[in-house]
Amino acid sequence: MFSSLTTTVQKSLTDAYGISDITVAWERPQDSAHGDIATPVAMQIAKQVGKSPKDIAETICSALSSLDAIENVEIAGPGYINIWLGPSALIDELSQTADSVLPIPRRKEDPVIVEYSQPNIAKPLGAHHLLTTLIGQSIANIYEHLGFNTVKWNYIGDWGTQFGKLAVAVERWGDKKEPSQYSIDELLALYVRFHEEVENDATLEDEARSAFKRLEEGDAALTAFWEAVVSTTKASLSDVYEALHVSFDLDYGESFYQDKMEPLLQEGIEKHVFVEGEGGSLIVQFPEGTNMPPYLVRKGDGATLYSTRDIAQMRYRIDTYHPKEVLIVTDIAQKLHFEQLEETCKQLQWTLPSFTNVLTGRMRFADKSMSTRKGNVLKLEDILMEATQRAEKKIAEHGDTIQTDNPAELARIMGIGAVSYGILSQNRKQDIVFDWEKMLSFDGNSAPYIQYTHARARSVVEKAGGVSGAVSASELSEKERVLINTLLRFPRALDDARIAHMPHILANFLYQLCQDFNAFYNDEPILKASEPQRGLRVYLTDLTAQVLKTGASLLTISVPDRM
Ligand code: ARG
Repeated sequence: MFSSLTTTVQKSLTDAYGISDITVAWERPQDSAHGDIATPVAMQIAKQVGKSPKDIAETICSALSSLDAIENVEIAGPGYINIWLGPSALIDELSQTADSVLPIPRRKEDPVIVEYSQPNIAKPLGAHHLLTTLIGQSIANIYEHLGFNTVKWNYIGDWGTQFGKLAVAVERWGDKKEPSQYSIDELLALYVRFHEEVENDATLEDEARSAFKRLEEGDAALTAFWEAVVSTTKASLSDVYEALHVSFDLDYGESFYQDKMEPLLQEGIEKHVFVEGEGGSLIVQFPEGTNMPPYLVRKGDGATLYSTRDIAQMRYRIDTYHPKEVLIVTDIAQKLHFEQLEETCKQLQWTLPSFTNVLTGRMRFADKSMSTRKGNVLKLEDILMEATQRAEKKIAEHGDTIQTDNPAELARIMGIGAVSYGILSQNRKQDIVFDWEKMLSFDGNSAPYIQYTHARARSVVEKAGGVSGAVSASELSEKERVLINTLLRFPRALDDARIAHMPHILANFLYQLCQDFNAFYNDEPILKASEPQRGLRVYLTDLTAQVLKTGASLLTISVPDRM
C-alpha cells in the first residue's frame, strides 16, 4: 500500500515541480480524526520547491484522490496530508500484521549480544533483579522475533573480593561442613554476617583480600570451595528463571576472564593508556571536559577488579563473536562504569561494535513495608510465590466470571505474568514502581487485563467455529476502523520497542489494542451479525488474539486460552 501511494506522490511532485527522488514518510496517526495514514512530506519539501506547504499538499491531494484505494484526503494544520483508506485497502493491509505475528527466521549474520540479569555469587535472586532480567529478556525476545541473530548472556558476578569475604565468613562462622552442603540462604547469611562483624574488626577486610588473592593464585582448597559455591548459586537460579520464562545461551561470568586480563594489562601499559596511580596501582585517565574520574584497572597489590574483567570481556566478545551490537542491561548505578569502560576501549584503539548500556531506574515499592524488610533482601522466589497466592485470591473473588479447568495453573500464569508485565509496562528510564494492586488489577494496564481480553477473543473465535473464507466489507463502523488501525500499528510497535530498547512501547501497544478490541466487542455484535460483517468481525477478533499472544510472549508472559 505505502509503496503505491509513494509512487503517486512522487509522480505528482515530478509533474508539478520537476523534482524527483523525494523520500515520503508515512505515519499512522494515533487519533482516528487524523485519518488512517498521514504524511508530512509537503512541509518537508516546501523550502526546496519554493512553494507553501499548503499549495504542495493540494497538488498531492488531487493526485491521491483519484486512487481507488483512497476514500478521502484532507489537508490539516500547516500542510499535513491525512488519508482515509477504503475498507478493502485497509483490510488487505492487515496481512502485514498477520505476518508479523510469526517470527522472522533467524538471519545468518553477526550477532547482537544481549547481556542481562547478572546476579552475584552466593546470593539468591532478589526483587531488584526483576528489572535487568525481564527487560533484557524481552529486548532479546524482540530482536529474535525480528530475525536478529542474538547471543543471550548472563554475566554472573562470580569473582572478586566479595568472594574472599564469603570464604572468610564460612571459615570463621560456618558449621564446618562440605562446601557443597551450604544452601544459598546459608551462604547469604554468612556474607551478611561478615559485613556486621567487619564493623568491629577491620582486619577482616585484609583477611578477605588475602583469601581472594590466594584464590586468584590457584589455591586448591579455595578453588574447590569456590567451585561448589558457583554450582550452588547456578542451581538456585534455574527454577526462578524458568518460572519467569528467562533463558540464556551463555553464563560465562567474571571468573571466565581470570587468565585473559594479564595480556590486556600489558597492552594498556605499552599503549600508555594504563598509567601508574596511587600506591603502585594502574589507572586510566580521561581528558578534561569528560568529567570522568580516573578508572582503576589494577590495585596496588596487583589484584584485578570488576573493571579489568569488563575490559577483558569486551575484547573476548569482539574477538569471538564479531558482534554487530552489544547491549548490556544494568541498573543506573553502573552508568559511569560503562562510560569509563567504553572510553578506555577507545583509548586502547579497539574497534568497537555499537555498544549500549541499557539503563534501568531503581525499583520502588508502593507498599512501604516491602522496602524496609529486615536483612534487606526480598527474595524473588518469595515474590513469585506471593504473586501466585494473590492471583488465587483474585480468581476466587471473581467467582463465575472467570472460567478455568485448572485454577492453580491459572493463578501461576496470572500471578507471575502480573509481576512481569507490571515491570515491563513501565518506562525503564524511570524508577519502576512495584505495586501489587496495580499489577493484579483486572481493568488497568496489567497482565490480567491482557490475559482476560485474549481469552475473551479466543472464546468468540471458538464459538464462531474459526475464521472462514475471504474477508471483505463495503463499509466499516467507527469501532472496526479504530481496531483495524491499531492492529496495523503492531509491526511498528515491535520496531520501535527494539530500536529504543524499551519493552514498555510494546506493552502500551497491547494495552491500547485491548481497549480498542473491548470497545468493539461491547458495541458490535460479532456472532449474531450477518455476513459479510460476521466474517470480518471474527477475523478481527482472531487477529487480535494472535497479536496479544505474540506480543505478550515477547514480554515473557503467557496468555491462557480460557479464563
Ligand atoms: N554483577 C553486577 C552486579 O550485580 C552486574 C554486572 C553488569 N555487567 C557487566 N558486564 N559488568 O552489580
